[in-house]
Amino acid sequence: MATDDDRSTLDGAALARAVALLRAGELVAFPTETVYGLGADAADPLAVRRVFAAKGRPADHPLIVHVAGVGAAERFAVLDGRARALAAAFWPGPLTLVLPRRPAALDEVTGGRDTVGVRVPRHPVALALLRAFGGGVAAPSANRFGRVSPTRAEHVREEFGEEVFVLDGGPCAVGVESTIVDLSRPDRVGLLRPGGVPVEAIEALVGPVEPGGVAAPGTLPAHYAPRTALRLSRDPEAEAARLRQRGLRVAVLRAGEPEDHARRLYAELRRLDALGVDVLVAEVAPDSGLGAAINDRLRRAARGANGG
Ligand code: TXA
Ligand code: MG
Repeated sequence: MATDDDRSTLDGAALARAVALLRAGELVAFPTETVYGLGADAADPLAVRRVFAAKGRPADHPLIVHVAGVGAAERFAVLDGRARALAAAFWPGPLTLVLPRRPAALDEVTGGRDTVGVRVPRHPVALALLRAFGGGVAAPSANRFGRVSPTRAEHVREEFGEEVFVLDGGPCAVGVESTIVDLSRPDRVGLLRPGGVPVEAIEALVGPVEPGGVAAPGTLPAHYAPRTALRLSRDPEAEAARLRQRGLRVAVLRAGEPEDHARRLYAELRRLDALGVDVLVAEVAPDSGLGAAINDRLRRAARGANGG
């Protein structure tokens, strides 16, 4: 899905450069509808290792392989009927499927697991890149390990400076990461991470989704964290007033309509983090649909922030 921003349309020269860099084993940051990814050729073990080095990410945290369509996904993973149904309904889109891997899914990408995460992103620039490149692009979110995910090209530059070439596709339309569903076992559907596709919509197609599944080592309790202490509250103005009475400088992040809230969540966390206040107070979202993903990220951010 395109955003209104004209950077979501294509810059041919930038695209050609990105493809050339991927072919040369270099990293490319690229926009998706969820967050920006830090991509490497999924078939090049040295390039994939560079992703881990640039992020400061532990090598056993697997990467998602981004592909242009179901056919390309089948080169890396085995799709059963449930996977096909979910792919038909939600790809391109913010859904990652964890599936039995094929040999083309490298140990460097999967962390040595017998499963691989695959997804077809919906951003036109991401799709153009994947089609032009032809292969899979292994990519985590383009932030340093544990930090807030980037939803604009300038956020990626804040994280990596001139170190990484950034394909600018404007602001991300969804704003929180993909929903990750574990289909590696035939008898259960597991939720590894709530995200851009509501769990309710997945259950409507494949039946009950159970929390958890195979271990997803990147989904740590403390993650997505600003540097400023963060508190969650159902009544943020009252909480802020209490904290101000104790002499603390406070900034408040209000919830609001879930799609809009998700879209601006990470940019707001970055902006508020830069104010230099003592505490951020974030309003808890309604715990269904996209709100479940927003609250998941806020809770992890609250655990990861200094003092919170
Ligand atoms: O929206 C998204 O998913 C973004 C964009 C760039 O596509 N990507 C993203 O990647 O959020 P990352 O690496 O920040 O988070 C992916 C999560 C990690 O927690 C990782 O452990 C989990 O997916 N994961 C990937 N492959 C897996 C597998 N085979 N088994 C279990 N968990 C897996
Ligand atoms: Mg991430």
